[in-house]
Amino acid sequence: MNCKTIIEGRTELFVPVPPEGSSFPPSAAPVFYNPAMELNRDINVAATAAFVKRLLAKKALKIEDIRYLDAFSASGIRGLRIAKEVGIHATLNDWSLEAFELIKKNIEHAGLSEKAEASRRNANVLLHESKFNLVDIDPFGTPAPFLDAAAVSALNLLSVTATDTAPLCGAHLNSGIRKYAAVPLNREFHREMGLRILLGACAREVAKHEKAIIPLFSHVTRHYVRTYLEIRKGAKQADRTLKYMGFLSYCPHCGERETVQGLAVHIKPECPFCGGLREIAGPMWLGPLREKAFCNELLEEMEEKSLNTKEQAAKIISFCRDELDIPLFFDQHVICKQLGVSASGIDLVIDSLKIKGFKASRTHFSGTAFKTDASIAEIKKIIRTLG
Ligand SMILES: C[S@@+](CC[C@H](N)C(=O)[O-])C[C@H]1O[C@@H](n2cnc3c(N)ncnc32)[C@H](O)[C@@H]1O
Ligand SMILES: [Zn+2]
Repeated sequence: MNCKTIIEGRTELFVPVPPEGSSFPPSAAPVFYNPAMELNRDINVAATAAFVKRLLAKKALKIEDIRYLDAFSASGIRGLRIAKEVGIHATLNDWSLEAFELIKKNIEHAGLSEKAEASRRNANVLLHESKFNLVDIDPFGTPAPFLDAAAVSALNLLSVTATDTAPLCGAHLNSGIRKYAAVPLNREFHREMGLRILLGACAREVAKHEKAIIPLFSHVTRHYVRTYLEIRKGAKQADRTLKYMGFLSYCPHCGERETVQGLAVHIKPECPFCGGLREIAGPMWLGPLREKAFCNELLEEMEEKSLNTKEQAAKIISFCRDELDIPLFFDQHVICKQLGVSASGIDLVIDSLKIKGFKASRTHFSGTAFKTDASIAEIKKIIRTLG
């Protein structure tokens, strides 16, 4: 395999070089490496460091006892960066022989033989056999086939990347139903829909093992969803978090939306605003997508570390921290088009909503989107006066 060295964060490693002039996707290389995921990995380094500080502050564990699993490691980059830049022990697993050989070479090259260990197993087998404090799931496409085993293995933190945004957000409806046992809705808020469907699946998979999730940080960037879930043990905790599961009813005629928590719920089919027939999506996670305090700790870590995507990452993290906890966002352009008015600046819409006494914020999901507790009728009234 033709390799070159690269540096991400403070870690140098070998990655495969695509053949001259080739435009093949990273997944077609003998060992996968996607430079576009650097932001995802930078945030992962900072989030892991912040979480490890929390574990140490609780005095439940010593740093040398903390175990991280990069279950789908490819070149080894994620786990290697954790061992080097966070300083905890990492297991770098991949079932491909070429990946396993490259991982071993990279551990040696980085001088991390004490802190990092190569493994060549089916991720599901490894996850069922061994427990890790922090488990990172970053497969090709959907994480769905690995969530049950990850729920068994993860003691303190479960981080999940999903790149199957089409099934998650309802663009490939049947695939989404098969993978996540939920009905997504492919409307203007599809990016948030995908995240909430994924979190719902995680909450249910974890609950089977009498564990609960607490989303510490989640973001949807480019074509992937990424979430960091604190894991708490206990049937009562699991029952409490499952209360965040529920459904969305959405009126495609006027844009009204309503969320109902619970797994056996009554939803009137008619829209209370226009009488039109509503669409139902779920079950999905209706709880918070992040913990504000954790976002601040994450920002502090970003600041301290040497990371190339620092500015972009900090912007995403701040947006996530500051957005309202209300599912699901509105898109200003969609509403303006319906009303036949031109769009003003998004901040003007938010300020106008606040002046009228509503809560309102921007959201990291889209630059033309906002979150608010105002009804669609109230939002339209305000947007008309601005258009
Ligand atoms: C998306 S890549 C991982 C990328 C890597 N985490 C990074 O940040 O660059 C997915 C990897 O998972 C491996 N893989 C897929 N299914 C697996 C399984 N069931 N068990 C172990 N490895 C698997 C593939 O060989 C591939 O290298
Ligand atoms: Zn309606």
